[in-house]
Amino acid sequence: MNNVILKIGLLAGVIFLSACTGGDSSPGYEFMPNMYRSASLETYGENTITGMNALQPVEGTVARGHLSTFNYDETLEGYLSAGENAVNPIKNTPENMADGKALYGMFCEHCHGKTGAGDGTVMHALYSAVPHYNDNKLLRRCNLPMCDLKAGHIFHAITFGLNSMGPHASQINEEERWKITLYIQEELQHYGLE
Ligand code: HEC
Repeated sequence: MNNVILKIGLLAGVIFLSACTGGDSSPGYEFMPNMYRSASLETYGENTITGMNALQPVEGTVARGHLSTFNYDETLEGYLSAGENAVNPIKNTPENMADGKALYGMFCEHCHGKTGAGDGTVMHALYSAVPHYNDNKLLRRCNLPMCDLKAGHIFHAITFGLNSMGPHASQINEEERWKITLYIQEELQHYGLE
């Protein structure tokens, strides 16, 4: 009888200790692996049959946090690439120009001035260097003067800001930002220049 108890005890000990083999990272021996490792496809894993992945947005949709017309990041590379590639999707119509002008009046004029000459009513040392839109000499980050900034540069600056100019993405939506960009390019960039 004692012998049987001893044998059962030893067997239990061996099974118990077998879970400890293989170091810290090993789960030990799996008695029923199918219980842990499902043979079905996981929702966010790779689908080996269709090749699709639930983490990738479906074609034609816009992932959260992305814009449908502008996907450049906050870096200098993003700014330069936006200047080269971004196209203003807003048409140059009297309505869009009027909207752009009104929005510029609400969000930009107090710093950048009515004609874009950097002479807005905000008088603070921090904003003393508001650039003129119609400046054709001082080169900006993209090696172009203010009067030659491309639509993508302007949209990027409104979206992400630059130094003491804060980002405006939370106040002004995508379409409105393009309208402001249109207004600046059409009315202010060469204001008073030959
Ligand atoms: C609080 C004042 C302030 C407001 C409001 C403001 N800006 Fe600016 N903006 C500045 C200053 C200051 C700079 C220069 C930043 C620098 O060069 O460090 C600047 C720079 C710019 C530039 C040049 C960026 C570049 O690529 O060099 C553009 C374009 C611009 N602003 C557009 C706008 C537009 C459009 C609005 C309205 C949606 C706006 N800003 C609102 C202060 C302001």
